[in-house]
Amino acid sequence: MSDINEIGATAFFIAGIREQEKGREHPLFNDPYAEWFVNDGIREKVRQVFAVLPEGMELVRYRSCLFDDIIRREIDNGMRQIVILGAGFDMRPLVFETEGVRFCDVDQPAVVAFKRQVLESRGVTPCAGIPCNYLEVDLPAKLAEARFDLDAPMLFIWEGNTMYLPEDLIYGFLRGLRGRVRSFRIAFDFFSRSVIDRTTGDARVTATTDAFQKALNVKWLTGFDDLSAVEERTGLKAAEFGTLFDFGKRVAPDAPEGVPELNLYLYGILTSGAA
Ligand SMILES: C[S@@+](CC[C@H](N)C(=O)[O-])C[C@H]1O[C@@H](n2cnc3c(N)ncnc32)[C@H](O)[C@@H]1O
Repeated sequence: MSDINEIGATAFFIAGIREQEKGREHPLFNDPYAEWFVNDGIREKVRQVFAVLPEGMELVRYRSCLFDDIIRREIDNGMRQIVILGAGFDMRPLVFETEGVRFCDVDQPAVVAFKRQVLESRGVTPCAGIPCNYLEVDLPAKLAEARFDLDAPMLFIWEGNTMYLPEDLIYGFLRGLRGRVRSFRIAFDFFSRSVIDRTTGDARVTATTDAFQKALNVKWLTGFDDLSAVEERTGLKAAEFGTLFDFGKRVAPDAPEGVPELNLYLYGILTSGAA
């Protein structure tokens, strides 16, 4: 665990939120594995970060539920290849195990190795994994090496990643996928630019942003207000765009009312080719 860097360590924090779902009155998803990656130090960080804006944690629950829904829907529509970018301790390959559907985790080598070690110590076989910095390698070539078919439709789940990446590298990465993978959908979440710039004018949002970055020793670099710039710079087409809070209001019977700050966390799905 000691060779996992700060960005990698954010995966423990998210697992620390997901492990709480089982105690909820209205659980939105099932992740019985999250607790394998959490200790009391992580639980304390989660508590501290959301002390000022507890509703903020709801958005991460909605996010988990949203990406689950996308995977479920895509599998129902015939998707057979699912790549989880910056997978951290995402256990959907097991939760959504389906005959004929292949999953692949992509994350930094130390994170992939740690996850593998935890799973194997519990008697669980991890899914295929590509240990790499996906911004620095030829990911399509690595996927092909792992026997993913670049000519068949692919779904990329890119959850909790884009805020940590420089904007230009995001565009370059997406263009790289577009050039080599014939047909794909990529689903991702992002903050509005005002969250990144700390210009929301909302003290609770700024305090929560600061608390997160301080507790995890990371910096959020990039946000988007909509998908127009991403479409323009990558040639991908937006198929879906919305706020996590609106999604949450549709799925969570206990969604809080009247918290405008919660509209600053968004998601989108981009497509290339026929996928
Ligand atoms: C906030 S965690 C999210 C983990 C998981 N997707 C989830 O939502 O639970 C971010 C993860 O992305 C990984 N990550 C970020 N940038 C990456 C990159 N350029 N290459 C590989 N992994 C990356 C980190 O190592 C970390 O595991």
